[in-house]
Amino acid sequence: MIKMAVLGFGNIGSGLVQLVTENADIIEKDLGCKLDIKYIVDLRDFKGHPLENKMVKDFNIVLSDPEVSIVAEMIGGSHPAFEYSLAALKAGKCVVTSNKEVVANFGEVLLQTAKENKTAYLFEAAVGGAIPIIRPMRESLSSDVISEINGILNGTTNFILTKMISEGMSFDDALQLSRDLGYAEANPSADVDGIDSCRKIAILSALAYKTVFPCDKISTQGIRQISKRDAEDAAEISCAIKLIAHTKKMDDGKILINVAPRFTELDSPLFAVNDVFNGILVSAKASGDIMFYGRGAGKIPTAGAVLADIAEIAKHMSCGQIPPVLWKRDDGEGLYDSKLEITRFYCRVKGDKIPENASIVSRKDGQSSFVTPVMDEYQLNEMLKNFEIVSEIRFMK
Ligand code: HSE
Repeated sequence: MIKMAVLGFGNIGSGLVQLVTENADIIEKDLGCKLDIKYIVDLRDFKGHPLENKMVKDFNIVLSDPEVSIVAEMIGGSHPAFEYSLAALKAGKCVVTSNKEVVANFGEVLLQTAKENKTAYLFEAAVGGAIPIIRPMRESLSSDVISEINGILNGTTNFILTKMISEGMSFDDALQLSRDLGYAEANPSADVDGIDSCRKIAILSALAYKTVFPCDKISTQGIRQISKRDAEDAAEISCAIKLIAHTKKMDDGKILINVAPRFTELDSPLFAVNDVFNGILVSAKASGDIMFYGRGAGKIPTAGAVLADIAEIAKHMSCGQIPPVLWKRDDGEGLYDSKLEITRFYCRVKGDKIPENASIVSRKDGQSSFVTPVMDEYQLNEMLKNFEIVSEIRFMK
């Protein structure tokens, strides 16, 4: 029997407990032994809960119990999730997590500690919810050269954009619904302002280029400024507005990473990724374009990804360590200036004039919208210096 502990009995933690209980027979067949949740660590009281006998408040009980070989960190936030994960790895336990904040901020330390202690730190659920993306990145694609990744990595914002644009729902109602459905972060500003997508693309970029950058140095925009008129103009030219997280290795060796709403064209595989779904388009030298698609948020889909990591660890217990993945931290020196990214821009300005070389999209209500030729953001600012700008949204390319 394999014994584990779940840290945090919130949305994903309780989903994991539910899944391990409901799938007990399938798990036993798959692993060749039973998987037992010995402890659930949470500071809150769960008086009368059917699992009350497993509930403990003191993490040290888990740490000092040699029977516990796997710790599922489902606490969320950086602290004490990082300290608990580090202590568990140093105690020789394997750690699995859905906590993208910890992986983005402290992944290099935890991965190195896992390596030194011959254990494992796995985080499939930290990016893309139910989508297996971390495992393909660290296994199938590890010897390929990743040229770029474009992803819709946040289920909440994709859900909100879909509801607002297709169903005419207000931003506030769509956000509330995404909270009710268990998609949004405890503080939904992390979703809406692009921070969650930023953490996730920082992780994918670290897997692709073996370097992680501080999230506060990564150019990040959310979806608050997207208006109905932007969406109507996008539809007019067969585009959809998606919050895209992007990373690319540039010719000078620097890494471009940004998160921004983008006009996404009909021929992009990301165009039809709607609702809470995520889509991740990985472009690699040998493999070409590979598209990953699935539910990007939600209690049970995310718990399913955590369970996949637990199964991988359990299967390796009798046959050696999972090959470790490592990355180094860069304080931002190696980041490419996001404003130098060459792309087209959708712009809306006051009045009926538009710049030369731009293609008109619509002219109404005293405002004109247009699409620019390919250029960088410095050139765009120069081009628009005599215009009163209302909206500015990048294209995918
Ligand atoms: N709030 C996140 C999202 C949860 O909406 O994508 C999954 O990481």
